[in-house]
Amino acid sequence: MKKMLSVFSLVLALVLVLSACASGSSPAASSGTQKKTLRVVDDATYAPFEYMSNGKIVGFDVDILNALSKETGYKVQLVNVGWDPLFVELKNKTADMSISAITINSQRKQTYDFSVPYFLSTNKILVKKNSSIKSAADLKGKVIAVQTATTGQAAVEKIVGQNNPNVKKFKTINLAIMELLNGGASAVVADNTVIEEYAKNNPGQNLKVIADKKAFAPEFYGLMYPKGSKLRPVFDKAVNTLYANGTYEKIYKKWFKASPDINELKAQQK
Ligand code: ARG
Repeated sequence: MKKMLSVFSLVLALVLVLSACASGSSPAASSGTQKKTLRVVDDATYAPFEYMSNGKIVGFDVDILNALSKETGYKVQLVNVGWDPLFVELKNKTADMSISAITINSQRKQTYDFSVPYFLSTNKILVKKNSSIKSAADLKGKVIAVQTATTGQAAVEKIVGQNNPNVKKFKTINLAIMELLNGGASAVVADNTVIEEYAKNNPGQNLKVIADKKAFAPEFYGLMYPKGSKLRPVFDKAVNTLYANGTYEKIYKKWFKASPDINELKAQQK
């Protein structure tokens, strides 16, 4: 009987150790409540999409991320790492995801995976009100400020040529706008919503925004993942749920005081 008992307790101990190991070694995205917390990286210098306010990252993208977190059951830790570093993190797979007003394009698709589109954007030109610049073609010969490695930079270089020294590249869009205000540049090219919001919020700075549909194509933002991420289908499904249940529209209205064209976004999925 004594022997039986000790064998029994040995087996029990073994079972306990094994189960402890099992739960310790699988923090990954598995079943039910055990989903891991995702590291989500962004560049929180891009109002109204992601920016710092009272020490917190806020913005349209942040609300979308939180809604997706709720929908998928994944907890998220959003970290402001900066624009260039966020690409490095996803490439090295030290982060799970990025939401940062990132335009989906074929060049980036070679290295990263993207969600279905969740926002429509286009590049536009920010100038001083008395500027002679009226269209993208007028940017030739002018000094233009952009955020480094953005589609704004690419769009400008398409017009004035790559490695043109007249294109001044900055770490953030705010530094690029500062250059315009200081007279070091004649224009800034960036996502329309960002520069429109800036011009509106700073009426004393006498700025205006110029559109040029022929020069600047429509762009769509996506969540960006390391290549091969298993999160992609899960979050794509959740994005479509936010479209269907009114959550997306609510968040969009909160930030942009207008209704989104969800059909246009969904048409991109075909
Ligand atoms: N949409 C542009 C791009 O993808 C600019 C995005 C910049 N985003 C940011 N959070 N700074 O290149």
